[in-house]
Amino acid sequence: MTNIILFGPPGAGKGTQAQKLVENCNLLHLSTGDILRNEVSNNTKLGKKAKEYMDNGKLVPDDLVIEMIKNKIIENSNVNGFLFDGFPRTVEQAKALDKLMQNLGESISMLISLEVDDNELKKRLLKRGKLSGRQDDKDINIIEKRISEYKIKTAPVKKYYKKQGKIFTVKGVGSINEIFDNIKKIITTYAHTV
Ligand code: AP5
Ligand code: MG
Repeated sequence: MTNIILFGPPGAGKGTQAQKLVENCNLLHLSTGDILRNEVSNNTKLGKKAKEYMDNGKLVPDDLVIEMIKNKIIENSNVNGFLFDGFPRTVEQAKALDKLMQNLGESISMLISLEVDDNELKKRLLKRGKLSGRQDDKDINIIEKRISEYKIKTAPVKKYYKKQGKIFTVKGVGSINEIFDNIKKIITTYAHTV
């Protein structure tokens, strides 16, 4: 399996690049944000618990997210690999993911980090907030909360994988295709089976 974590702050382009990658590579895209939004719109038990955190730009508690991703991984353990988007978002989640992979006799192949400055992130998210229905893009205070959650709780995940020698960084500003080409280059050079 090739198991890739697409990493970066809110608005870095994880979802955009993941979509292009799955068209090109035979990986299963798992976006915890998309899965959670689906749970919220279906008004499930999990969705009801997650909604308030998401609407306020806060991370959903680790135990809920870990249980959710565990089920997705087990349901799909026959795929060629996973493309994780928006997960893991805490060191606790990263440790749990490593364990889940181990249970399958697998491991994380690499983490690709999209680097984008705060002003660009805010500009992108506010623009999308005007055009579409994502509740957490509509208010600059919520966007800033998401960015601060990233800096405090999520950025340490990079150090966690750096110790394992699995980090690659990509400039996330510029044309979507250019960024995609750079990601693709890293994957084809450093991962074997994609
Ligand atoms: P999630 O859905 O993961 O959102 P996010 O990480 O805050 O960020 P986005 O999805 O908005 O950004 P993205 O990096 O995917 O960028 P995108 O491609 O969309 O999480 C939402 C919430 O769910 C969290 O706040 C939390 O509550 C909860 N949650 C999710 N996962 C969790 C977890 N593991 N643990 C706990 N809680 C969790 O691009 C953004 C915009 O920019 C788009 O409009 C796009 O068109 C544009 N764009 C993309 N690339 C470029 C470019 N190169 N140039 C110009 N514009 C671009
Ligand atoms: Mg996304």
